[in-house]
Amino acid sequence: MGPGGARIGDAMRAGLRFLDSESPAGLCRRVGSVIEELPDVQPIDKSALQDSYGGDKGRLSDDFLAGRGVFYLTEQRRLYLDCTAGHYQMLFGYNWPELLAAVEEAVEAGIVWDNHADIPQAPVKWLAHRLVAVANAADESERLDTVLLGVCTGSVACEAALKIQLCCWERRNAATATPALIVLDGHYHGTDMVPQYMRGMWKRYIRNLEIVTVEPNDPDQLERIFRAYGSRVAALWAEPILMNREALTLEPAYLQLARRWCSETGALMCVDEIQTGFWQPEVFAYRSLGFTPDMVIVGKGMTAGFHPLAAVIYRSRNDVLKQYDAINTNGSSPLASYLGLRCLEMIAADALRFAAVGDRFMAGLRALVSRRGDVMAEVRGKRHLAGIKFKRAEEAIGFHRRALAAGLWTRVHASCPGHSTVLMKLALPVDDVIVDYLLGRLESLLP
Ligand SMILES: Cc1ncc(COP(=O)(O)O)c(C=O)c1O
Repeated sequence: MGPGGARIGDAMRAGLRFLDSESPAGLCRRVGSVIEELPDVQPIDKSALQDSYGGDKGRLSDDFLAGRGVFYLTEQRRLYLDCTAGHYQMLFGYNWPELLAAVEEAVEAGIVWDNHADIPQAPVKWLAHRLVAVANAADESERLDTVLLGVCTGSVACEAALKIQLCCWERRNAATATPALIVLDGHYHGTDMVPQYMRGMWKRYIRNLEIVTVEPNDPDQLERIFRAYGSRVAALWAEPILMNREALTLEPAYLQLARRWCSETGALMCVDEIQTGFWQPEVFAYRSLGFTPDMVIVGKGMTAGFHPLAAVIYRSRNDVLKQYDAINTNGSSPLASYLGLRCLEMIAADALRFAAVGDRFMAGLRALVSRRGDVMAEVRGKRHLAGIKFKRAEEAIGFHRRALAAGLWTRVHASCPGHSTVLMKLALPVDDVIVDYLLGRLESLLP
């Protein structure tokens, strides 16, 4: 493993043994402290990585060493409670035993890591069927029946969805017109170039695609825009919870209105569930919001962080792309698909418990805000996906700094004007013990 690698390997193993030897309550008691009984380690430096990756190359690094479930240790042996499920993708946290066993089972059963997309192995096909099953209500009049799988990351899936939208729009409109996309202010649909253009980047380079940005949850503005643009709207993009906009939650009535206008104008309603998907008892958030979109994008949680895999679910009449328009050749991923299937089974088996724990977390946060309205403004999100909005950006930043020092890995959005939110996305293994510990610790960190 390179310079210092052997020692790091030993330290990783020792770290994992420590995490496995303690109960969740025992680990909670030591969150934030340095685990002195673990071996000291010389970390590998970051000099060969790009500057934008983790940053701060000069300092002795304190990066990720070993993890299990929602707990992890850093190279400097500090114990953290991961409150953001990695980078929002680790549905069951780190190396969750049931998923590790599933990987072994799959390999023993002859499931391969990857192969040519023309000959998808059984788990890929079965995952597509299962995604169709969970995407539709029993009485859906026109089912979402097609899945574009085999795209590695959410960004590629978003780009694929966009290509479908533009091709479908071209079928209905003169090639001389300019299509419009309606997007919500503060959206995030990945790092490919056109989705970045949708949020204001690369403007010099992209022509003939109009982006209309609307304020989330403003029905009057949405109606005005749809009236003005009519059939020029190729698609409307929405995320049920805008994590990039301080976990703002879209109101069901707003989404239902968007649904009606999309049907009226022929626009495709595209729901990006890359953040929300799989973190719900119903798998997709929209399933409990009273509407069905034309396209759903899913990624992140689907394979719980084990090899990225993403998908677009839509109707066969909109299945307009050719094979090399959108796939990754390195992403047919039967083994990752098998993990996706196991995640679906695990969610179904434990849906009530997951919902109850998520509700306990939200109720606890709301109670905290009602006690500490002097610094906290509101709680946003749903169940495991939460944003604590502070009254002032400095308070959010200060709170985040103290949370990190206390071993609570959280994120803060406070650099854009008006943003002042600490974000959390708890992985599904959190239980009442961990949630109660976290709530108490968060309260103790308030000024
Ligand atoms: C809502 C949403 N869409 C798209 C993406 C892009 O996914 P990925 O980072 O897997 O490419 C993300 C990633 O955070 C996301 O949160």
